[in-house]
Amino acid sequence: MRKLLIVGNWKMHLNASQASLLVHRLSERIKIHRDIEVVLAPSMLALQPLSLQIDRRKFRLASQNAYFHDEGAYTGEVSFTMLRELVHYGIIGHSERRHIFDEDLNMVRDKMAAAIRNEITPILCVGETKHERQDGETKQVLHDQLMTALSNLTAHEVGKIVIAYEPIWAIGQVAAKPDQVKDAVAYTRGYIADVFNDSAAKKVRVLYGGDVAPEVIHGLLAVPGVDGFLIGRASLNYQTFADIVEAAHRWQRNHETSKEGE
Ligand code: PGA
Repeated sequence: MRKLLIVGNWKMHLNASQASLLVHRLSERIKIHRDIEVVLAPSMLALQPLSLQIDRRKFRLASQNAYFHDEGAYTGEVSFTMLRELVHYGIIGHSERRHIFDEDLNMVRDKMAAAIRNEITPILCVGETKHERQDGETKQVLHDQLMTALSNLTAHEVGKIVIAYEPIWAIGQVAAKPDQVKDAVAYTRGYIADVFNDSAAKKVRVLYGGDVAPEVIHGLLAVPGVDGFLIGRASLNYQTFADIVEAAHRWQRNHETSKEGE
């Protein structure tokens, strides 16, 4: 059975009490499903209280960012070491980090190593800009981002990470078409098969992110190799987020049943 991963990235929204209220509302609506893992990425400030509040059978936590050194004189930063007991996952290289905060390829690579060193599963974000797509550079961009980010990892480690394909032109705009996602996901798994091995390419979980809403998830779940979603705006609305989780579960159930009937 394929287990889907659905990650809500709350970005710089909701203070600790607002985040707590959202978790409360989500808990009322989201059921525990064996075939779905739901992950919440609140602000750094809300991680500690939410780690005490959440039912761990229902939700896991992710950080939206962290620094690559474990400790030291780095004013304003939080390390993966500090997050060890709080989060299962760490989002790394989100396009907003790369573009607004100038995180370069090497910094993303060092953060990948730091997350793994601290036993936090990285959710590595990759994806091209609109111009790069128009210029036919999508694969080259994915290649460069994957090559650097994964360069210090073993095949075994790569098999355990999560990669989120998030085309920058789609984030907060309009979801990519299933065919566009299919090409990017196939390229990503192909790259991992070539550079690491088939087992890592099969095991690595690949998500899609960029304007995910309940209406588009069926089309995207049908794309081979998509294991779930990284969701921004729609994850801030408890009804919408819960609808996405339930719709994904129903899709899984129907899909598994039809496979059994084959
Ligand atoms: P969006 O954001 O769902 O609002 O497009 C996705 C993301 O940035 O991870």
